[in-house]
Amino acid sequence: VATLDSVDLNGKKVLLRVDFNSPLNENKKIIDFSRIKIHVKTIGELIDKNASVVILTHQGRPGMEDFSDLSEHSLLLEKELGYKVNFIDDIIGPHARNSIFMLKDGEVLMLDNVRFLSEENIEASGDFHSKSYMVRKLAPLFNYFINDAFATAHRKHASIVGFPYVLPSLAGRVMESEVIALKEIRDPKISPKIFVLGGTKINDSIRIINNILKNSNSSTRVLLTGLVSELFLFASGIDIGKSNKEKLEKLGGISLLSNAKSILLNYKDRILLPEDFVIEGGGVVDIKELPKKEGLIKDIGEKTIEEYSNIMREAKVIVLRGPAGVIEEKEYMKGSIELVKNAASTNAKVILGGGHLTAVLDFIPENLRTRIHNSSGGGALLLYLSGEMLPGIEALSFSASKFNLDGI
Ligand code: 3PG
Repeated sequence: VATLDSVDLNGKKVLLRVDFNSPLNENKKIIDFSRIKIHVKTIGELIDKNASVVILTHQGRPGMEDFSDLSEHSLLLEKELGYKVNFIDDIIGPHARNSIFMLKDGEVLMLDNVRFLSEENIEASGDFHSKSYMVRKLAPLFNYFINDAFATAHRKHASIVGFPYVLPSLAGRVMESEVIALKEIRDPKISPKIFVLGGTKINDSIRIINNILKNSNSSTRVLLTGLVSELFLFASGIDIGKSNKEKLEKLGGISLLSNAKSILLNYKDRILLPEDFVIEGGGVVDIKELPKKEGLIKDIGEKTIEEYSNIMREAKVIVLRGPAGVIEEKEYMKGSIELVKNAASTNAKVILGGGHLTAVLDFIPENLRTRIHNSSGGGALLLYLSGEMLPGIEALSFSASKFNLDGI
């Protein structure tokens, strides 16, 4: 792929896709802005190179609680950059296009949540998306497209795969450093690899777990926490209690039960499930007691932390992705903090799969924190490590060869 070193960006207008998707609290306020911080390097370099920069990103998904506009993101970026960021609440309309057209060298403009556009959310090829309204309306205004959103590189969305089809495209510094850092770890000979997977993106998790286990040797194991572990426990015939079943149902888990069952059937010994949980109110219950004790699952319990930490000790590579509990509420952060801390205390290479779990890093002692490669990617990272090619990276290499750009 081509990088910021491949072309002269002085006086050029660039469309920069970043990933500012951040965890929000119930008032839709950002609770951790590391995703914004990581892109500051790329944006700062583009300003120094005298390019005019238009930033495009998403936040949440339509219909989910963390779906919001980007006014707060732009203010936080401005603070981090120490440089004026003009935010406009438009993406492809006349207001946006006119502001892009008028933008001067060295200025920064941020557009609103790209997922406000329905066509962005379609999974399709670069060719298809190059004909989308967004690409047709925006691409003619730019000299280059830059993708720095490694964390969204697994999505075949218009803003990821559409622009490289029609504009010479480059990898930003975040994208470039991830590709370089993860190359070595992808090697199947480096094993055992232990994946500790939690969070609430159960749809993605099914695909990821399946890929990891299918593409790796028998020493690779997957330790589940979070909502995804509740899904697998339920699929394995454990009664997780009425309120937890209702929660799963609300989040689309029931339709995934058969997939979870077949994964369990194929890879039973390589998937570990929690033995105990902390439920709402703070009580710890063994999984067998869940139907009796009735209460929403909020975190993993002590026994699970210990069991998972023992397994991690044998690993050469440990990848953690997704919180073990509801870390937005401080009292349920413990499982996630302990797992990250104990992983960093082993001799393994430790990779934290971006997104919401990054919030626990503030609670990890400095000497351990420096041992962790804090990847900007969550789902993208795992798919990449499981051997899949990412559409976002493929689109960049397609563009580099189409427009004859040199790169890494
Ligand atoms: C992530 O947080 O993994 C990326 O921002 C992608 O978000 P998505 O899973 O909603 O596509």
